[in-house]
Order: sequence, then C-alpha cells, then structure tokens
Amino acid sequence: MQPLVDRYGRVATDLRVSLTDRCNLRCSYCMPAEGLDWMPTAEQLTDDEVVRLIGVAIQRLGVREVRFTGGEPLVRRGLVDIVRRTRELDPEVELSITSNGIGLARTAGALAEAGLNRVNVSLDTVRPDTFGEITRRDRLDDVVAGLAAAEAAGLGPIKVNAVLLRGINDDQAPELLRWCLERDYQLRFIEQMPLDAQHGWSREGMVTADEIFAHLEQEFALTPASEPRGSAPAELFLVDGGPATVGVIASVTRPFCGDCDRVRLTADGQVRNCLFAREESDLRSALRAGASDADLAGRWLTAMAGKAAGHGIDDPTFLQPDRPMSAIGG
Ligand code: 5AD
Ligand code: SF4
Repeated sequence: MQPLVDRYGRVATDLRVSLTDRCNLRCSYCMPAEGLDWMPTAEQLTDDEVVRLIGVAIQRLGVREVRFTGGEPLVRRGLVDIVRRTRELDPEVELSITSNGIGLARTAGALAEAGLNRVNVSLDTVRPDTFGEITRRDRLDDVVAGLAAAEAAGLGPIKVNAVLLRGINDDQAPELLRWCLERDYQLRFIEQMPLDAQHGWSREGMVTADEIFAHLEQEFALTPASEPRGSAPAELFLVDGGPATVGVIASVTRPFCGDCDRVRLTADGQVRNCLFAREESDLRSALRAGASDADLAGRWLTAMAGKAAGHGIDDPTFLQPDRPMSAIGG
C-alpha cells in the first residue's frame, strides 16, 4: 500500500468519482440553458473500468472514502451496480453520492441495499419559482421527495448543499436553514466557485461567507462548533446554541487547500489532483492499453505528486480550468 501523498505532505484518502457529465437540471451557475456537448460514450469509462480503477485506489493507494458525483450520478444507468461492486471491494470504505436528488425517491432503497452510506443533495431554495429560475426546470417536488426517501432508506445524516446567488436566493438563506432544521438535514452553504461552463463567475458577483453569515444572523445566533475543521471543508456553527449546526464552505474567501485530502477521477478516466488543476493524467488510455494494476497505481501516484499548493482563485494570474464542474465532479 502506497498512500497518495503530494510534495506538500498532504495525503489523499477521499476519492471523488464522476460517473457522467450529464444532468437533468441546468443550474445557471453550472451550465447554459441548452446544456453542453456531452462526453461521447466511447470516451466514458465502462462500469468495469470504473470499478477496476476504484479498486486500485482502495487496495493499493489507501483511499478510504469514495464519493460518486456527476453531472448527476443518478442518470448513470450502472450506478447501483457500481456502488454494489465498490462495496464488495471493501466492507469498511465510506460510500456516498452527491446528487441533485431527482430520481432518489426511486433509487434510495436500492442504493442503501447496495452498500451506500450517505447522500449529499444539492438544494438552493425551497421556493418553486426560485428553483425554476436557478435550475431552469420545475422539479422541486422531486428533490423534496428524494430527500425524504434517502432519509427513510437510512442514507442519513442527510447533507444539503446550497449555493447563494446575489439577487436570486441570497435573501432566502434563513428560510432554507429553517426548512432543513425542521427535517434534521445538515445544511451547508458553498461559496460559488469559478467552475461554470459559461465562464460567467466574478469575484464581485459571488456571495461571500461573510455575507452568508450576515444573512443567517438576521434570524439565528451562530457560534463556532468546537470540533476542529480538519480536512472537512465546512466550518460548522451551532444554530441558536445547538445541537443543530449549519456549515459554510468558504472555498474562495477562506481556502482550505492546505488540509485537502481529495483526489478526483473524471467519467472519462482522467485523474485530477485538484478541482482547479490545469493538467490531468490519462488512466483510461493506460488501462485500455493493458496496463497492470501496479502500473495504474504508479501513474496515479505520479499524478498526485504534482498537486499545486492551492487553487489561487484570488491571484491575478488565476485561470479557470478547461473542464466545467459538471465534467469534473463536485
Ligand atoms: N461553485 C460552487 N458549487 C457548485 N456546485 C456546482 N457548481 C458550483 C460552483 N461553480 C455545487 C452544486 C452541488 C455540488 C456538486 O457542487 O450545487 O451541490
Ligand atoms: Fe446539474 Fe449539479 Fe450542474 Fe445543477 S449544479 S446543472 S444539478 S450538475
């Protein structure tokens, strides 16, 4: 076993696997209304190939947590089977998905039965009109039903991820928190990052963590929760003295790159050592050319060694990666 260590001594144990770049929503901060040119199927890893690479990560490289992402991972037909086969590789490894919740009502039970531990669901508003404005689809009821089904299937504690957009839902932060508290979902606000396909992000347009606090403190008293943040990017706050908490993931204004323990595998088999990496390492070609597990592990180690110290979003020289979030995985 050789850990995925970089030259700053960080060890990646948390693997994010994107299973598709497709999605059934069109969140304005992610992709244009017309969608994107989706990845050709031939370029996408097959179920067997994904499971093989996950096996290399778990069995040779010390990965202890696998999170399936997209696009929307539930639109990948083989998802339940991939979860089951990943669970068979290791009974202990933590398995979760990041989903927009659409389709969870139907699949939560099967996912839990296959060995999934938890879900993170993205939900930026509980108002149908705002949901339509942000996602360009009228699917709020499906997301709400998906959350309930995930809870019922034992996929809790349910985490809800929200992005605030200025002038659209930034005044709804307390309302969303109250809604989540009533249902015992753990809400985390994420600062919007420059990862949209349209390159429309701007530092001035982004709602900062400080602004998120200001909105929440109009209705709630927030005090820092005592647990140290560690490699978990969310800073946790007790709501009105606790025990309920709310998280803020200040990726831009308070980057946590120094504690990063993540590594990413794209749906077309490229290792990315960072969301904002400008280079990738092509495991798919090696795999399809007949590389051994040891060879694949060696390539993966080399890819991690080159990880940059931080994303540098605030640097004047920052360049947005070529791939949008939907083709990297959250
Ligand atoms: N910045 C921050 N979060 C984003 N997400 C998608 N695009 C961005 C972005 N540019 C979120 C989604 C989902 C998770 C995968 O990442 O809302 O919660
Ligand atoms: Fe789909 Fe997630 Fe992008 Fe929204 S943010 S369009 S749910 S991939």
